[in-house]
Amino acid sequence: MRLDKYLSHLQFGSRKEVKALIRDKRVRVAGELVTDPGYNILPGVAVEVNDAQADGPLEVDYLMNKPAGVITATEDPVQPTVLDLIRPHDYRPGLYPVGRLDKDTTGLLLLTTDGNLGHRLLAPNHHVAKTYTATLAKALTDDMKRQLEQGIVLEDFTTAPAEVTVVPATNNKVIQMTITEGKYHQIKRMLLAVDNEVVALTRIAMGPLHLPENMAAGDYRALTDEERAQLAQISK
Ligand code: URA
Repeated sequence: MRLDKYLSHLQFGSRKEVKALIRDKRVRVAGELVTDPGYNILPGVAVEVNDAQADGPLEVDYLMNKPAGVITATEDPVQPTVLDLIRPHDYRPGLYPVGRLDKDTTGLLLLTTDGNLGHRLLAPNHHVAKTYTATLAKALTDDMKRQLEQGIVLEDFTTAPAEVTVVPATNNKVIQMTITEGKYHQIKRMLLAVDNEVVALTRIAMGPLHLPENMAAGDYRALTDEERAQLAQISK
């Protein structure tokens, strides 16, 4: 990200004002004076303005309740992204979402500046469990449940067995489903393959992380030290 854009994000002023700040030799990046407003800030690099650190911690990670209607991407020329929900002061260069939820899927999304964390959590050999609550178009039959639990043959791959539980008092129309892969539209495609359809999808857990019950859609918070330690354990 450009230095002037970043400082503007951190509310040091409008783009014009921060450009003047930079040209006035009042900004250092990694200890070096930088006078080019277009200088590219890399993740984790310390930025100082008037000899004081410009931001809080350089590395951040957030647990978000993704709302419907925003895409899981760092930027998009047209559609709102999950990064647009991050308040300017919480933003850091290099912040990105780990994995992808569809535009209409809600729920738990991890965002981090730690590039390695994302790679490790998404690595197929780590089999990190992801649990979703899915509302279905039709009641789940025993046969559909058995097929999902055995694994489904899709066009491009055969899924590992899923864990499926029916949410009580929903006429078998709401299920919780845990998968360890994360292929494109995987839950929706698995349900279509058993002649059903997902009408609403929310991710409620990923590895040791759980969607807090009281977190409003679009809200987020920093991970706790315990969550961070648990993530470090599973992604070693
Ligand atoms: N499976 C889907 O079909 N969509 C998601 O967003 C996540 C898992």
